[in-house]
Amino acid sequence: MNTATGSDDPRDYLRDQGFDSYTEQDHATWRTLARRQREILQGRIAGAFLEGLDALGIGETGIPDFRVLNDRLKVATGWEVVAVPGLIPDLAFFRLLADRKFPAGFWIRKPEQLDYIEEPDVFHDVFGHVPLIMQPVYADYLQAYGKAGLQAAEHGALKRLARLYWYTVEFGLAQTQQGLRIVGAGIASSPSETVFALESPSPNRVRFDLARVMRTLYRIDDFQETYFVLDGTEAWPTLDLDKLIPIWKRLEGLDDLEPGQLLADDVVLARGDGSYHRDHKRPAA
Ligand SMILES: [Fe+2]
Repeated sequence: MNTATGSDDPRDYLRDQGFDSYTEQDHATWRTLARRQREILQGRIAGAFLEGLDALGIGETGIPDFRVLNDRLKVATGWEVVAVPGLIPDLAFFRLLADRKFPAGFWIRKPEQLDYIEEPDVFHDVFGHVPLIMQPVYADYLQAYGKAGLQAAEHGALKRLARLYWYTVEFGLAQTQQGLRIVGAGIASSPSETVFALESPSPNRVRFDLARVMRTLYRIDDFQETYFVLDGTEAWPTLDLDKLIPIWKRLEGLDDLEPGQLLADDVVLARGDGSYHRDHKRPAA
């Protein structure tokens, strides 16, 4: 989800990955990021994510070749990764997801940008997002999300879909028998948020609720004030329009919720003390 404008036809954005054009420095940057992240994710990430990394061969050898990834993804869940130059408009994005194609940036950050980039690069998009697409239930969720997105504009619900993506695909957590685990790519590709999301006393951790999430503003350039927690790493919500449209209608009459706000009927797994965000106030979207 993003704010890019332009053609709604996804074919206008598809590129060749240009695998042979990566430099040794590019691959070295990937290896540095992948090693660091694999280590920090142990015991914190959903098991299915690590299984996906291994099954796809997303290791420490360098930037993956999308052709190799796609041979394995297609067999497992019928998905493929397609290369795009950057953020693309919502409708083009939804169309790709509805067609089981995940758009991934093919460029990689510079060595001096290891810890922060403004737009997603191949490390965020591939290391962060693609492993879980090997999990059938997640693969179906992502496709259903794309299909819902194609309907959302005419119901004035694009911002609701953006929040849902944000709080699940990017910054989702899941409760497991082993404890809280990361399922969101925005967390999984960030060493600092990997630790913050699970271990900081600052953020709220609230049981996922579809309508609640679609009503909640989020922090774009900072750690989240609230993380929403799925009831298991396969408990992705179903997104039938029969269910979504009445929710969208009901939410039209309600105010948006601030990122750190709690409601009386939230199932609060951990109430944050807000210590981090008291010193880091930024606008919410
Ligand atoms: Fe992402």
